[in-house]
Amino acid sequence: MNIKSITLLVLLTGLTFAAFSQNKEQAFVNENLKFAEQQTQSMINSMGGNFAGKYPRSFNHKGELTTTDGNDWTDGFFPGTLWYLYELSGDTAWKNYAQEWTNPLESGKYNTSHHDIGFLMYCSFGNGYRLSPNEKYKAILIQSAESALKRFNPKVGSIQSWNYGKAWDGVTEWHFPVIIDNMMNLELLFWASKTTGDPRFRNIAITHANTTLKNHIRPDFSTYHVVDYDTATGAVKDRATCQGYSDNSTWARGQAWAIYGFTMTYRETQDPAYLNVAKKLADWYLHNPNLPADKIPYWDFNAGQDGYTPENKSKALTVTEKYRDASAAAIVCSALFELSELSKDKTYRKAAIEILHNLASPAYRAALGKNGNFLLMHCVGSIPHGGEVDVPIVYADYYFMEALQRYKKSMK
Ligand code: GLY
Repeated sequence: MNIKSITLLVLLTGLTFAAFSQNKEQAFVNENLKFAEQQTQSMINSMGGNFAGKYPRSFNHKGELTTTDGNDWTDGFFPGTLWYLYELSGDTAWKNYAQEWTNPLESGKYNTSHHDIGFLMYCSFGNGYRLSPNEKYKAILIQSAESALKRFNPKVGSIQSWNYGKAWDGVTEWHFPVIIDNMMNLELLFWASKTTGDPRFRNIAITHANTTLKNHIRPDFSTYHVVDYDTATGAVKDRATCQGYSDNSTWARGQAWAIYGFTMTYRETQDPAYLNVAKKLADWYLHNPNLPADKIPYWDFNAGQDGYTPENKSKALTVTEKYRDASAAAIVCSALFELSELSKDKTYRKAAIEILHNLASPAYRAALGKNGNFLLMHCVGSIPHGGEVDVPIVYADYYFMEALQRYKKSMK
């Protein structure tokens, strides 16, 4: 063989191997999609085959499906999952189901009682508008963005998350609490400015992101869950946790929301400051000595460690088992696909693929027909509140499906 033939052979072998790997990964996506379709159809059947006012949220330790009624912050995730099933499969039966679970959420467009309108409306109507643009959904989303602005305080430079303070002892200590999760609600605002041409939504989103950047992120790029502000001066009054282990610990899902939120904010603004922070937040997560080898985090990176003392001495925090939170991993996984694309750094994609494969393994993915027909197991809602510990949760499934969709898109 001459040199030319050898080069050609090496090239062909490489191409064949690349095609084989791609086919294998496409088969992985298809197998997970098939599983998600079967499982979700069983979920719908278990609720009577149609909407009937119920949004699946979790599956408790008594073996009961827990549902909500359209007024919960999680209600956009099941319709959002249905939209992803439609996007991934192209099957209009999923579109019909998605509309059936999305449309009843319309009254949420006037909800100004908490910050979660972005989760609620953008995961449902936002995906619906993206995949099936129509004037009705557009108007609902614009009104939702208007409602979100009502919770913005220019003195603080943030959108207020909750109306209430700390509840352990009945004493209100927080006045204007902003949680790291709130970064997720900004996507609706960026969308609203792009769609209407009105810069107010985007300007407020950027101001909120900058305030969060300044006050929620520690010098090592771990995150606080809650920052409370003085509304008269805009000064920080408290840095604390609500769902994490202690005020100075890092709640895994909080870190996940931060990675996702700043990646999305970079996508929408192209401001390198947000890309820089998104990478640092992701690096903190991925290189953390307390991250297990499978990259599915414990519910809090510091639970039970010296130097971290819960303020709330409730029984829930005396548990010694180090529960994993697959929901945090699913959020990070989806975010890392986008971070890799935006930063052109393939290491984030490699980590995302690894997390996705681990979530899809029998350690975290349910057996068919089990787990209340949710897709993922081993999530934690809130250990300090003793709620939803080591169970499936609807938002884990939503971000798992989004991650699958992003993975599929990234193969093209
Ligand atoms: N946004 C509430 C949570 O992540 O549990």
